[in-house]
Amino acid sequence: MRKGDYQGSRHASRVYDDVAVFATRGEGCEVTYRKHGQGTRSVADLAVVGLGYVGLPLAREAARAGLEVVGLDVSTAVVDALNGGRSHVDDVSDVDVSTMLDAGFRATTDGSELGQADKVVICVPTPLSEDDGPDLGPVRAAAGVVSRHLRRGMLVVLESTTYPGTTEEVLAPILEDSGLKAGVDFNLAFSPERTDPGNATFGVHNTPKVVGGYTAACTQRAAAFYGKFVETVVMARGTREAETAKLLENTYRHVNIALVNEMARFCHELDIDLWDVIGLAATKPFGYQAFYPGPGVGGHCIPIDPNYLSHSVQVKLGYPFRFVQLAQEINASMPNYVARRAQDILNSEAKAVNGATILLLGVTYKPNIADLRESPAVPLAKRLEELGAIVQFHDPYVTTWQVDGHPVGRVPDLDEALSAADLTILLQGHSAYDFASIAAAAKRVLDTRGVVPAASTVERL
Ligand SMILES: NC(=O)c1ccc[n+]([C@@H]2O[C@H](COP(=O)([O-])OP(=O)(O)OC[C@H]3O[C@@H](n4cnc5c(N)ncnc54)[C@H](O)[C@@H]3O)[C@@H](O)[C@H]2O)c1
Repeated sequence: MRKGDYQGSRHASRVYDDVAVFATRGEGCEVTYRKHGQGTRSVADLAVVGLGYVGLPLAREAARAGLEVVGLDVSTAVVDALNGGRSHVDDVSDVDVSTMLDAGFRATTDGSELGQADKVVICVPTPLSEDDGPDLGPVRAAAGVVSRHLRRGMLVVLESTTYPGTTEEVLAPILEDSGLKAGVDFNLAFSPERTDPGNATFGVHNTPKVVGGYTAACTQRAAAFYGKFVETVVMARGTREAETAKLLENTYRHVNIALVNEMARFCHELDIDLWDVIGLAATKPFGYQAFYPGPGVGGHCIPIDPNYLSHSVQVKLGYPFRFVQLAQEINASMPNYVARRAQDILNSEAKAVNGATILLLGVTYKPNIADLRESPAVPLAKRLEELGAIVQFHDPYVTTWQVDGHPVGRVPDLDEALSAADLTILLQGHSAYDFASIAAAAKRVLDTRGVVPAASTVERL
């Protein structure tokens, strides 16, 4: 049996005590037992490294469960704001931060504080490098700090999305530079983050948590830890399965979004309402999940994570992951496609894009949050400006917005701007928008989300 092997996944829900368990790689669970709160008391139960969209909600949930939490971040601005009771993350309010501070949470830039913690969870970014490959710089840097302060008996978990093998091939050797051995002197695991910013139904506590350990014992320890504040913990065979599960989830979304984006093009040519088609298909109670077209994909998951998987396949096996390549090509072409549709609409009114005023509504990458990362609104605005359009924007969540290093004008009065613009493009269906009023006030609307009521002046993607 290989290390960490459970011969299939098992579900665990608040079943374990929080114990330090160690086993030699490839062998069963054995050796030490140290119940939390007994023996030498650590200053913190948990240290979260990287206090962003993933790390801060995790720290909040652990603090709510009564754990003493310290947060480490390289950004002084983030640390100072949190210690001052201010949140920079959509799903965590200032009140949440104050409650966390009252419960003993504190943020720091001092890596030596890690040495005081029982468990360390790494939630730092995993961006793309210049050549669109994985950039593990922040993971390596965070691992280096953990390594310098690693103690016998610690549990270290990586949550950052990454390619299969990272925990074993990159993280473990850096941590072992400490002189301690993974799975023997400390527990090591990977647990993919599934956070969905803006999702009011599913948060850290009720989204099943996948954990895969360096050894079977590491999996158990990590499951025990997350079981304190997550309702359902699912154990993977090992770290690679847990790493790959996350990439499968995001690649699945990427590919299915690309499928409907490609369909949006030919359905338009064939005069078929794709939103109606999707609504019809979605009445099938099995075997189908609805995905919707849009102006492109954004955020730090869908446009980036599949690259980690395709890069890994290409580098390790020497052949391409063709689904990912195709999905990337289609999704990345959507902003230009939307610009072309804008051009066609204006053309039908005997107007040119050059000199036309085009109002973009909703420039964040998903509805009802302020997150602008990788938003497809940016390449669209860039393309429209290249064509000579006067681009304006409105977004209830965004006050200033830059494209290519220069600010885009935010309209002060939405109603006035709607009636003045030659074309309004709805990019994000924020629930704060009254879509019927938009349809009534605007001269022409290009609706990329299928939410604006039908009218002779409204065209869907
Ligand atoms: N945001 C999401 O919706 C989401 C969902 C699932 C998975 N993920 C993954 O989770 C990971 C974190 O993403 P995020 O959205 O929280 O990123 P983020 O940019 O919101 O936050 C990361 C934080 O880490 C800090 N940081 C960077 N390097 C550091 C270091 N060496 N030591 C300490 N702190 C450091 C940054 O200052 C920042 O505050 C990424 O791998 C991402 O792909 C994100």
